[in-house]
Amino acid sequence: MDNPGKFYITTPIYYVNARPHIGHTYTTMVCDAIARRQRMMGVDTWFLTGTDEHGQKIERSAAAAGCSPREFVDKIAGEFRALWDRMGITYDDFIRTTEPRHVRGAQAMFTLLQERGYIYKGSYSGQYCVFDELYVDAAGPGAPCPECGRPTETVHEENYFFKLSAMEQPLLKYYSEHPDFIRPETRRNEVIAFVRSGLRDLSVSRTSFKWGIPVPNDPKHVIYVWLDALANYMTALGFGSDAPADQQKLARYWPADVHMIGKEIVRFHCVYWPAFLLAAGLPLPKSIIAHGWLLFEESKMSKSRGNIVRSETILDTLGQDALRYFLLREIVFGQDGSFSFDALVGRFNSDLANGLGNLASRTLSMIARYFDSEVPYPSSTARTPADEAIANLAGQTIVEFHTQFEQFQFSRALETAWSLVAAVNKYIVENEPWAVAEREDHDSRARLATILYTSAEALRVVTALVHPVIPDATARIWSQLGLGEIDKFDLRSLAWGQLQLGAKLGPVQAVFPRADKSMIERMQQMEQEGPADVAAGAKETAPAATGTSAPSLATAVGEAVGAPRSSPAVGQCESTTVLDDKITIDDFLKVELRVGQIKVAEKVKGADKLLRMEVDIGTEVRQIVAGIAKAYEPEKLIGRKIVIVANLQPRKLRGLESNGMIVAASFGEDGLPVLAGFLEDVPVGAKLK
Ligand code: MSP
Repeated sequence: MDNPGKFYITTPIYYVNARPHIGHTYTTMVCDAIARRQRMMGVDTWFLTGTDEHGQKIERSAAAAGCSPREFVDKIAGEFRALWDRMGITYDDFIRTTEPRHVRGAQAMFTLLQERGYIYKGSYSGQYCVFDELYVDAAGPGAPCPECGRPTETVHEENYFFKLSAMEQPLLKYYSEHPDFIRPETRRNEVIAFVRSGLRDLSVSRTSFKWGIPVPNDPKHVIYVWLDALANYMTALGFGSDAPADQQKLARYWPADVHMIGKEIVRFHCVYWPAFLLAAGLPLPKSIIAHGWLLFEESKMSKSRGNIVRSETILDTLGQDALRYFLLREIVFGQDGSFSFDALVGRFNSDLANGLGNLASRTLSMIARYFDSEVPYPSSTARTPADEAIANLAGQTIVEFHTQFEQFQFSRALETAWSLVAAVNKYIVENEPWAVAEREDHDSRARLATILYTSAEALRVVTALVHPVIPDATARIWSQLGLGEIDKFDLRSLAWGQLQLGAKLGPVQAVFPRADKSMIERMQQMEQEGPADVAAGAKETAPAATGTSAPSLATAVGEAVGAPRSSPAVGQCESTTVLDDKITIDDFLKVELRVGQIKVAEKVKGADKLLRMEVDIGTEVRQIVAGIAKAYEPEKLIGRKIVIVANLQPRKLRGLESNGMIVAASFGEDGLPVLAGFLEDVPVGAKLK
């Protein structure tokens, strides 16, 4: 991060097929910390985030939720934005790919590539992964996607193609001339190896679905979702607009200084995006930084794996600073890192409550008590080597923190800052200001003033440095130090010895009350119950019942009743929209409904709504975990014939793989599920259609 007078940073734009979870929060928070620090360093900063709203995946998710795509994307995009607002994310703009400004800009990009001779019409016959919105070359029908392992779909389409093959050499030349373009090094090497292995032309339009941006002058086609999505980084600044204000903004901030992304979307950002830009004759971003994954229960946290943790759970209990600090301190940036509630609470108590919180409250309350809340004057005669050591360490901390932060070593930078916190807490214990205060002679008073001045000054230094990471608590400490608004502080000027002597402290309050162990259970419980609008259980999975008292079929019992966190039933819409947006028989036939017979049923430890079952579906016995424990005793279910959705991706609930879903109705106030069954006898494994 050099200081070119402006700084433009972006997050990926998030798909709106799922609610935000702490994986998305991680990237957004990292960018927020960087943006906040840049602003404090006096740099004109522009921070962009937003949502990626087109494509077949979103179209299908909307249909599954009984919504029109428009209604669905509005709802989920609103949830992302509301979460970022709640977390105090200081984004300057939030782009949605369904906004007219983006549609216009993405079309302008397509036209530019066409005019420059990089797009031609051809036909594509091959495999496509809808989940990753990725063309999978050289794979036969039904082959799994190399990225996510899901089955690919065969597509035969007349498409527009981008001459990616022509960009192979220009890309390799660019990578070699710009060694910092892709970071970290491992990702750079992977990208270079991928490009060296040969690039095939890329299909950049689709005709088999409608939910996308029409190709200019050929509306039968929609623009490939990744070309559409990547263009956001420029359309948000005004690319494609003739308005002078937009053109100025684009000229001011483009090229981006940092595109921050997760490692799974490296290929799109480091190969396709620069290839499009090179072909279009537009400047390339200065750097693309790929971070690792947040893991939960040992695999990447994601909706489809059913192992997500919601940010709201942590915001409601420990607050945003706890989450921000934990994610930046605990995860070595660039590598994968695990999330657990135990570790979160552990870090919170050791570093925030006992570390920084304790330093702030003991220092400030002693100044309040012994010096009537005025910052005391340090005495030159009452100085000891211990005071000097703290001053020196603080000076060193400032230098090291900046260097480490600028190299994206957030964990190390925070470790550096907390070494100062630990040293000052130790200094206070060793110098015993409370004992010095007992002695009433002049020298002791001078010594007391020096100890408390030194502690308060060190507190000020740490507070300023870590404000971009934990903005809330540091703003409060800053005002308790009598320094006013921390956002107005110029971080470039930070040095030892600037605390205003005689300044009046603000009212002193604890910033991080300790969390006890019960907090862990509380958070786990909250995760199990899910967000407020799905906590009511099957009610949410029953779109037709929303706003009516009609009973309805809830197919997603395993998800929404038992463990809503595994799949908060996203974006359900009112029943009227379901009528507007009917599905075809082909859509219905995609769902494989079968008769199953319960062979084993038992409660899941620590989850009062979940039952683990073994269900015979004729061809095999499946383990299914479902949220029906409040409605059924496990013993009474043995032998019962039920209906299951047999072709769903497996997902983990409470560490147990669930391989299917049970169909149930839900109605009434309590929303308890009632299992679907048959009056006549039916063979196990029979298909429902
Ligand atoms: N829409 C595309 C990106 C288009 S950018 C032009 C997309 N969206 S996404 O919703 O799947 O978000 C992916 C991004 O969310 C990751 O690249 C990463 O930044 C963040 N994360 C989602 N899950 C995550 C973890 N479990 N861990 C860390 N980051 C995670 O891909």
